[in-house]
Amino acid sequence: MKDRGHFGSKIGIVLATAGSAVGLGNIWRFPYMTGQNGGAAFILVYLGCILFLGIPGMLSEFIVGRHSQSNAARAYASFSGGKAWGLVGILGILTSTIILGFYSVVAGWCLQYLGASVTGQLKGDPTYVLHYFQSFSGNPVKPAILGIAFILITHFIVVRGVRNGIERASKLLMPLLFILLLVIVVASVTLPDASKGIEFLLKPDFSKVTTKVFLEALGQAFFSLSLGTACLCTYASYFSRHTHLLQSASQIALIDFLIALLAGLMIFPAAFSVGVQPDSGPSLIFITLPNVFQQAFSFMPILGYVISILFYALLVFAALTSTISMHEIGTAFFHEELKLRRSRAAWVLTVVCSVIAVFCSLSVGKPDLQLFGKPLMDFCDFLTAQVMLPAGAMLTSILVGWCASKTIVREEFTNNETSRSKVFYPAYLFCVRYIVPVSIFLILMHEFGVI
Ligand code: PHE
Repeated sequence: MKDRGHFGSKIGIVLATAGSAVGLGNIWRFPYMTGQNGGAAFILVYLGCILFLGIPGMLSEFIVGRHSQSNAARAYASFSGGKAWGLVGILGILTSTIILGFYSVVAGWCLQYLGASVTGQLKGDPTYVLHYFQSFSGNPVKPAILGIAFILITHFIVVRGVRNGIERASKLLMPLLFILLLVIVVASVTLPDASKGIEFLLKPDFSKVTTKVFLEALGQAFFSLSLGTACLCTYASYFSRHTHLLQSASQIALIDFLIALLAGLMIFPAAFSVGVQPDSGPSLIFITLPNVFQQAFSFMPILGYVISILFYALLVFAALTSTISMHEIGTAFFHEELKLRRSRAAWVLTVVCSVIAVFCSLSVGKPDLQLFGKPLMDFCDFLTAQVMLPAGAMLTSILVGWCASKTIVREEFTNNETSRSKVFYPAYLFCVRYIVPVSIFLILMHEFGVI
């Protein structure tokens, strides 16, 4: 394709791809998962998943995407020389479309909370805050509208193209996000008794490590790195031929991990400082945190007010750089495969995701809107994070490790032998041939009760 976009700079590549990785997964999902799974021990397992499964998995998607320079479905088909592999790309596109649907609902909640922080509506005792969340998220209309609004904001950035839309937005939003995060971390760790929260994050208790912890850490690592959705493959198709893939993958994984850890350092010290247990699950940042902010900064309410606004603004920015990447995967596919104009292709995706978002949003207030015994919203989260993402990553590693031409894989990994990272090639190949597919296979089998 002659008119394909490209990222314009090395920093643009890292920030845009890290922008995809850093999102609600780091600031909403990681803290509540850590809170529910016992703290530091979960983080260690999570780190292991990133190193041995995440980075090799990212590299594999980068290799497929950069080599093929096309949308995910075509990239998988052309990389393997077999049309059937294109289905893995299609699976990725489907996964990211479902994620965009339910993710936008949570992002819409963040928009609401940002507005509510500004107008001071989150002030009140714990029962009031709980009631606020339940009545807002259970409302059939407003959260759905906010979810669609979020998809539309994403839409208008994506149609501006790779360099003017995605890269520009990431270069602005990512540094902003980092500064906001640091400000809140400093405020949180200087509270009285904050050390208990820091200990919870950094002192592992291995008796808490169960198979469930492994499963959840794996799902979280994949979700957080945007792995198995063909998103990394699509972004890599806009990389330059000179991009060092190992270096970029390591930088992105490091940024993603650090931001998750900082999100923990922002939430847990504040929660422990006011004696709140951080195991309340997905509602942690919507029910527990507003109380925590009020109590923790009761000595200076204006500080609590400002921190709350900064926090929800941070969430909105983080979510946006991720929704952009999910949207781009499908947009590139419809644009290149159905030969639709880019803006039309983007509309197809926007409409499909908005429908998913409306149903997911409704399922929060109507518990009978279920699939396989779970409210639709929880089902989408489970299906994508614990089944579709691992399956996508496993199939990609089988393709790259076993089926594709080893000459091409090596050329891409080593940038035609010019990169110093070539010493890591054998280790990469070992991970991608054995460690990644076998561990994911075992984990999936365990999940379905086969072993
Ligand atoms: N990685 C993103 C996050 O942590 C979510 C995401 C998943 C983005 C899949 C793109 C594809 O929030």
